[in-house]
Amino acid sequence: MRRRAPWRSRRMWDFVLAGLLLLAALYALFIEPRWLEVTRRAIPTGPPRGLRIAHLSDLHLGSKFSYALAQRAVELANSLQPDIAVVTGDLVAKGQNEDKCAKLLSGLRASRGVYVVFGAHDLWAGAGPLRDALSRAGVRVLDNEVADLGSGWWIVGVEDNSGRDVDLSAVMRELSRQRQGAILLAHSPDIMHQVSAMNHAGQRISLVLCGHTHGGQLRLPVIGPLVGMGRYARRYSCGLYKVGATWLYVTRGVGTYLVRMRFLCRPEVALLDLRPVGPGGPGQRAPASSG
Ligand SMILES: [Fe+2]
Repeated sequence: MRRRAPWRSRRMWDFVLAGLLLLAALYALFIEPRWLEVTRRAIPTGPPRGLRIAHLSDLHLGSKFSYALAQRAVELANSLQPDIAVVTGDLVAKGQNEDKCAKLLSGLRASRGVYVVFGAHDLWAGAGPLRDALSRAGVRVLDNEVADLGSGWWIVGVEDNSGRDVDLSAVMRELSRQRQGAILLAHSPDIMHQVSAMNHAGQRISLVLCGHTHGGQLRLPVIGPLVGMGRYARRYSCGLYKVGATWLYVTRGVGTYLVRMRFLCRPEVALLDLRPVGPGGPGQRAPASSG
């Protein structure tokens, strides 16, 4: 009787598949969650002299691993010499970490300030002590507040909006009517339906920066994120988008939630280079949308 060639045997292919799955799982567990990446995007909107933003999010501080990773993310952000640094929520994974978190974020260096908004995990851990610790460390928490960036540009931060709407119109009313542009920090891209409503009402927001999705943590080519969080988990899972007149950047974040795994979704520090739009200016060439 003729024996079948080994490459045609079903069992061999089962072994190959099992081996590939094991390698993918080991990579997702032990390599990718610590493999930080700097993502650079040029965005054609900004003050006359431009603005470099280092965008971090979802540190989920709690374990020794998370602190070491976040510390590297802070050092990476500093090396990019941003004008401002922002952290869009989920700073901590549990309570009792506020002083350590504040100490870590006080190490962020940006010539025009460091701005933070809270996510759901920060509220669960106790927003009051965390806000106090961050204030003592010189980190500005924008909790339905605005701050002047100069040149007619403002930064707006809203309280955690994951799973609910916030009173965005009330915060926007604090902005000068003479403003040239506004950057909105919100934890979740769920804010985008409110942003669209504000734009229709003539209160244009130039750029929105969010986290929350973690990019899905586990992604597959073509399929995208395997796990989604929030109303726009798939539509705005990560990357740069143009939504009507507003640019949106959703970062994959630094840390992880539930399981310390990432696949095709590396932790990131985003460097967003805002360039003014004008005749002959660099902003005339729009970057491709991604995500
Ligand atoms: Fe998160």
